[in-house]
Amino acid sequence: MIFVTGGAGFIGANFVLEWLSGSDEAVVNLDALTYAGNLQTLSSLQGDDRHHFIHGDICDRAQLDRLFATHRPRAVVHFAAESHVDRSIHGPAAFVRTNVEGTFTLLEAARAYWSALDPIQRDAFRFLHVSTDEVYGSLGPDDPPFAETKAYEPNSPYSASKAASDHLVRAWHHTYGLPVVTTNCSNNYGPYQFPEKLIPLMIVNALAGKRLPVYGDGRNVRDWLYVADHCAAIREVLARGRPGETYNIGGWNEMTNLDIVRTVCGLLDTLRPDPAGPHARLITYVTDRPGHDRRYAIDARKIERELGWRPAETFESGIAKTVGWYLEHGEWVANVQSGAYRDWVARQYGSGDEGRG
Ligand code: NAD
Ligand code: DAU
Repeated sequence: MIFVTGGAGFIGANFVLEWLSGSDEAVVNLDALTYAGNLQTLSSLQGDDRHHFIHGDICDRAQLDRLFATHRPRAVVHFAAESHVDRSIHGPAAFVRTNVEGTFTLLEAARAYWSALDPIQRDAFRFLHVSTDEVYGSLGPDDPPFAETKAYEPNSPYSASKAASDHLVRAWHHTYGLPVVTTNCSNNYGPYQFPEKLIPLMIVNALAGKRLPVYGDGRNVRDWLYVADHCAAIREVLARGRPGETYNIGGWNEMTNLDIVRTVCGLLDTLRPDPAGPHARLITYVTDRPGHDRRYAIDARKIERELGWRPAETFESGIAKTVGWYLEHGEWVANVQSGAYRDWVARQYGSGDEGRG
């Protein structure tokens, strides 16, 4: 079986659902169920004995040791993290705790378990660390996209904590021989993404007639990848990635935030027209994110060359599926918009952004 951390979050849950739709290999899924973790996303797996959900914390070494000893996984796929840049600016401590201390604790538990395996199992074992393109810093308009050799230049507490975790993973390979692989992926979008991130926030706000808060001039660029494509890339890296290597994963799809928001508005105008007028009327420029990285872009040639992975989805097909999914899953959205979520929105955007645009 495989041991997944953070499998009740956005990408982790998509990964677990897809894994079990294509394989009978069981999954142990450890998740602390922070505000971002949602068991409702995994409700289709209720009663499925291939899925073992464990409510717990990657900082809890004793629990990790028990899980390794009981389930004897052949691999770890490590998604668990604090993942939202704006939250890291308001409260960096949780990011250092989970992303740095948590990854360290997981590495140590994995190392203890792996060291005691027989030689064949030791060779086959993998620790796949899921990381981000944000560790590479910010690009100028004419800079080449991030290759795996790009120096780390993290700019936010989130990206600094992920960079620290990447360095720990690298060191555990070079010093102890733990068979790790690291993936650095660009911005994901798709079903089950928490509506604090750009695309689901814009969909949910537009449907509610609320303002669409665009930071700064809206011209920051991200490289967007449909989440199922990220999950497929992770499966390839887990199966055939070379231990000690890192693989960049991206969509070859650079877009400004304004273009993203306008695309979402256009789709909603067709699928759910608002009698009050085009959804783009709700676009509102708000104060920029401190230290806001201007541009990310991924050079994904290594994973294509070595493992044959390329994204299957275009942005047009992926965003249409995503908007359609949110339109059909109003109950999921309503349930994640708990009290804790509303407190966050009020703190980040002020009460003005809660009203109709
Ligand atoms: P998410 O915030 O939606 O989910 C994170 C999950 O981790 C949640 O279920 C949460 O409950 C769990 N978690 C948090 N702290 C924990 C702890 N101490 N112990 C156990 N579980 C804990 O995040 P996501 O967007 O699904 O991202 C998953 C991973 O992928 C992260 O490592 C992130 O850095 C990385 N990543 C995300 C993106 C993206 O665009 N979302 C892109 C590249 C890489
Ligand atoms: O690049 C990969 C990263 O992508 C992941 O590592 C992170 O976990 C994930 O959260 C994401 O980080 P970003 O900061 O790029 O994503 P976010 O959706 O928060 O913002 C995308 C862009 O949109 C960014 O330039 C900020 C802007 N933005 C975001 C929000 C929430 C707005 O203009 N308005 C908003 O309200």
